[in-house]
Amino acid sequence: MQILDGIKLAKEIKQEIKELVQNYKDQGVRVPHLGAILVGSNGASQTYVDNKIKDCHFVGFESSELRLPDTISQEDLIAEIEKWNNDDTLDGFIVQLPLPKHIDQEAVINAIDPKKDVDGFHPMNFGKMALEMETFLPATPYGIMEMLERYNIDTTGKHTVVIGRSRIVGRPMSILMSKNGNPGNSTVTLTHSKTQNLEQFTKEADIVITALGVPGFLKADMVKDGAVIVDVGITRVDDETNPRGFRLAGDVDFDNVKEKASWITPVPGGVGPMTRAMLLKNTLLAYNNKK
Ligand code: GUN
Repeated sequence: MQILDGIKLAKEIKQEIKELVQNYKDQGVRVPHLGAILVGSNGASQTYVDNKIKDCHFVGFESSELRLPDTISQEDLIAEIEKWNNDDTLDGFIVQLPLPKHIDQEAVINAIDPKKDVDGFHPMNFGKMALEMETFLPATPYGIMEMLERYNIDTTGKHTVVIGRSRIVGRPMSILMSKNGNPGNSTVTLTHSKTQNLEQFTKEADIVITALGVPGFLKADMVKDGAVIVDVGITRVDDETNPRGFRLAGDVDFDNVKEKASWITPVPGGVGPMTRAMLLKNTLLAYNNKK
């Protein structure tokens, strides 16, 4: 078994971006600028946004953060988005999900200018991705593709089983793994909560990508010898022995599955850091598109 080390790779990618930004600075041109909108006080979302801003500082991007109360109306949130759509100093921005229940997530995503949608969630960008046109790719699937590429994992002709069909991970992942190119060229099975006899698919898979949010779900007897295992699950599990009061748990029963896998991502330290690095790459793309 070999580890797909997201921490190491993300560091390399962030270092590459940092050097590019230093070049911009040396030439006296403005640097890329990323914004993040956070609605409410969900602990995990706050951490994600804090980390995105920290990453901007590290690579030398300018960043803006807008924190809004969870009582904000959909109309007022969309008015804030409009302001950022029209702010010429801002290259791209994200609205952290999930949003409070009274807000229609679809309406909010549709309100973002597709040219600034560095999450790649807008239907126009999602459609471009599906058609293999250059666009912003959702950061988590993009990070997984980048990881497979940089570790030279051969995906051509392989059977990839994706678990979960969310708009953020599972569905775009299934599209990217079937695209024409390597990584890609996979025969993809997209499984979800209504799939019957899931094990029948995972047992046959050369590559399993799980994004379910159920700690320890994927057991060793559900995968074949030599499979590549990518774990997107990142659930907070109560843990009194941890100073934070919780630990992060993946979807994979790591200690047992690792004995059968050829390559496997740990949690934490696998997909998560790659996701963060890819948001920076998307911001660079928005910046370069604007130039
Ligand atoms: N919530 C969980 N993942 C993401 C992400 O990649 N982008 C946004 N905006 N919200 C998320």
